[in-house]
Amino acid sequence: MESPSLLLCKGLLLTASLLTCWTSPAMARRSTKEIQVSAAKGARVLLSVPVESFLSFNWYKGREEHSDFMIAHYEKTQEVKLGNNSSGREEIYLDGSMMIKNVTQEDAGIYTLEIFGTHDRYEITHFHLQVYKIVTQPYMLLNNTVVRKRRHVSVFTCVTPDTGIEFNWFFNYKPLNLTERTTLSPEKHKLIINPTWRVDGGIYQCGVSNAFSSRRSNPLLFAMVYG
Ligand SMILES: *[C@@H]1O[C@H](CO)[C@@H](O)[C@H](O)[C@H]1NC(C)=O
Ligand SMILES: *[C@@H]1O[C@H](CO)[C@@H](O)[C@H](O)[C@H]1NC(C)=O
Ligand SMILES: *[C@@H]1O[C@H](CO)[C@@H](O)[C@H](O)[C@H]1NC(C)=O
Ligand SMILES: *[C@@H]1O[C@H](CO)[C@@H](O)[C@H](O)[C@H]1NC(C)=O
Ligand SMILES: *[C@@H]1O[C@H](CO)[C@@H](O)[C@H](O)[C@H]1NC(C)=O
Repeated sequence: MESPSLLLCKGLLLTASLLTCWTSPAMARRSTKEIQVSAAKGARVLLSVPVESFLSFNWYKGREEHSDFMIAHYEKTQEVKLGNNSSGREEIYLDGSMMIKNVTQEDAGIYTLEIFGTHDRYEITHFHLQVYKIVTQPYMLLNNTVVRKRRHVSVFTCVTPDTGIEFNWFFNYKPLNLTERTTLSPEKHKLIINPTWRVDGGIYQCGVSNAFSSRRSNPLLFAMVYG
C-alpha cells in the first residue's frame, strides 16, 4: 500500500515537480550513506551507487539538497535537466550514476545524490571526492658532473614544476645520508656537498613525492678525477 505522502506526491506531480512535492522526506524510509572517492587530476571519475527501482533522482554539489546547488534532476521517462551547479563536464546516466570528466581541483568536495525510490524509499548518498595530482618526473641540475679540483663545492638542484611536494635524495639508488659535508637547502631542493671528496663519487638522483605519487629523476653519474 502506498503511503499518504506518496499519494500526495502523485497528485502534485500533475502540476508540480517531485522536488517541491517531497518537502518532508522524513515521512519516507530514509537512508544515508557516505562514500569516499579519489581521482587523479585530469582523469574521469564515476560516482555511483547500486539503485533499485526509483522514481527520480537529483545530484547536488555540496551536502545540501537544495535546488540552488543542483547539478542534475531526472524523473523517469523525462529528460535529464541540468541545474545551477553543473560544470558542463558531468555525464548523468539513467541508472543514477554521474561521471565527471577531466576532474580539476575545484571539483573536489562533496556531491549528494538524492534518490526517490519506489515504496517510499528515500536515499541520500554523500560522495566525498578527493582530487590528487600525480607528480611529474623531476630533473637534476649540476654545475660540474666531473670534479677536477680539491675543496670543490658541488650543488645539485632538483627541478620540478610541481608544488606542495617533498624532496628526497638518493645516492647509488639508496636514500642519501646527510653528513657535515653533505647538507640540504632549507626547502630541500638543493643538495650541497662542501667540500667534495672522492667518496662522494657515484650515482645521484632526486625524488619528488606527494601523498599519492612519487617520481625520481634519471640517474646522474658524478665523478672525482683529481689525484
Ligand atoms: C552553485 O550555484 C550557486 C547559485 O545557485 C552559486 O552561488 C555557486 O557558486 C555554484 N557553485 C558551483 C560549484 O558551481
Ligand atoms: C541559479 O543561480 C542564479 C544566480 O546565480 C539564480 O538567479 C537562480 O535562481 C538559480 N537557480 C536555481 C534553480 O537555483
Ligand atoms: C582539462 O581541464 C584543463 C583545465 O582545467 C584544460 O586545460 C584541459 O584542456 C582539459 N582537458 C580536456 C581533455 O578537456
Ligand atoms: C652552480 O650553479 C648555480 C646555479 O645553478 C650558480 O648559482 C653557482 O654560481 C654555480 N657554481 C659554480 C661554482 O659554478
Ligand atoms: C645510509 O645509512 C644506512 C644505515 O646506516 C645504510 O643502510 C644506507 O646504506 C646508507 N645509505 C647510503 C646511500 O649509503
